[in-house]
Formats: sequence, C-alpha cells, structure tokens
Amino acid sequence: MTKTIGILVGSLRKKSFSKVVGKEMSTMFPADFTTKFIEIGDLPLFNQDFEDGDLQEPESYQRFRQEVKNVDAILFVTPEYNRSVPAVLKNAIDVGSRPYGKSVWNGKPAAIVSLSPGAPGAFGANHHLRQSLVFLNMPTLQQPEAYLGNVTNFINEDGTITNRDTKNFLKSIVDAFVDLIQRY
Ligand code: FNR
Repeated sequence: MTKTIGILVGSLRKKSFSKVVGKEMSTMFPADFTTKFIEIGDLPLFNQDFEDGDLQEPESYQRFRQEVKNVDAILFVTPEYNRSVPAVLKNAIDVGSRPYGKSVWNGKPAAIVSLSPGAPGAFGANHHLRQSLVFLNMPTLQQPEAYLGNVTNFINEDGTITNRDTKNFLKSIVDAFVDLIQRY
C-alpha cells in the first residue's frame, strides 16, 4: 500500500534552503511512497482560548490537523533560529498537539533534517525539536543524524543540489527513514 510522507519546512522564506533540501529529498523515496508538503505559514499563533470557546478557532487549524492525520510519517526540514526551533514550526507542532488527548502527531514516525549556512548545522534546533517529539510520542530516526552545515557550499544559486556526496547523504537519510517507517 502506498505510504505518504508529510514534509514540514521550518522556514517561510521564498528561497529557503530548507525548502530546497525538502524538495530534493521528496524525489528520493521509493515508488510506493508519495510526499506532500504541509503548509504551516497560514496558522495563526496558538491561543488556548480557542479551546474554551472564548475565541473562534482559525479555519486553517482544521485543515492542518487533517493533513497531518492523512499522512503516514513526517519529515521535518528546518533551520535554526537563535539556537532553537523557528517559532513558525513550534507553533505548528503546538496546533497539531491539541486538543489534549487528540494530538495528530501521536505514533507517527518522524525524521529531522536540520541545516544552516553556518558550520554547526542547526544542531540546537534539531535537538530542541527532538525533545518535543519525545513528548508527542513520535518514533524519530536516530541514525544517521542530519546536521547540514555550510549549505551554500552545496546548494546552487538556482536552488538546486548537484553535489554527488550531498545527494548520497540525503538518500541515506531517506533510506533509513523508510526502514523506520516499515517497522511501524
Ligand atoms: C538565524 N540564523 C541562524 N543560523 C544558525 O545556524 N543558528 C542560529 O541560531 C540562527 N539564528 C537565526 C535567527 C533568526 C531570527 C534568523 C532569521 C536567522 C540564520 C539561518 O540559519 C539562515 O537564515 C537560514 O538560511 C534560514 O533557513 P532557510 O530560510 O534558508 O531555510
């Protein structure tokens, strides 16, 4: 049966390096997998008053939760903001986790690819995100780890990746993720 991977990108920037990497990886899954980029930029900041009926919940929340429910696993591709997860991605995680007891993340296998134009490859964001995924009960790919540093060395001006070593590395992440998904 075909499995669908939801891809969440932690950057809204038009020329985002994270989008480039997500797109490249989306082409690397086996034929019985499909991928879907799940939009997070239209989710207003979460406010718990939405749950008490004090405020009307934004319509985009339902759309987002349904799209996450519909996929079999989640690939997060994210930069690091101030050594942590960009707020837009953390907000999406919070939206998907509520109402309490109805989290759409529960049990979905996940993989995290973090990246940066700087050397450390967004290690801080990667591990802060991992901390949330533990609580959300998402079995998350541990090896190989994916901290992509110095991304401008392998992402071309036109937003493509042609570097053979980078492609091989991304493919190794996809293969290990597929293996993890098949075990769940
Ligand atoms: C950054 N950037 C950054 N980079 C990093 O390696 N560690 C960090 O803590 C931060 N902090 C940070 C905060 C804010 C508010 C911005 C806007 C940027 C730089 C960041 O990695 C760079 O802009 C990436 O290109 C963003 O990813 P996308 O948009 O290319 O996917």
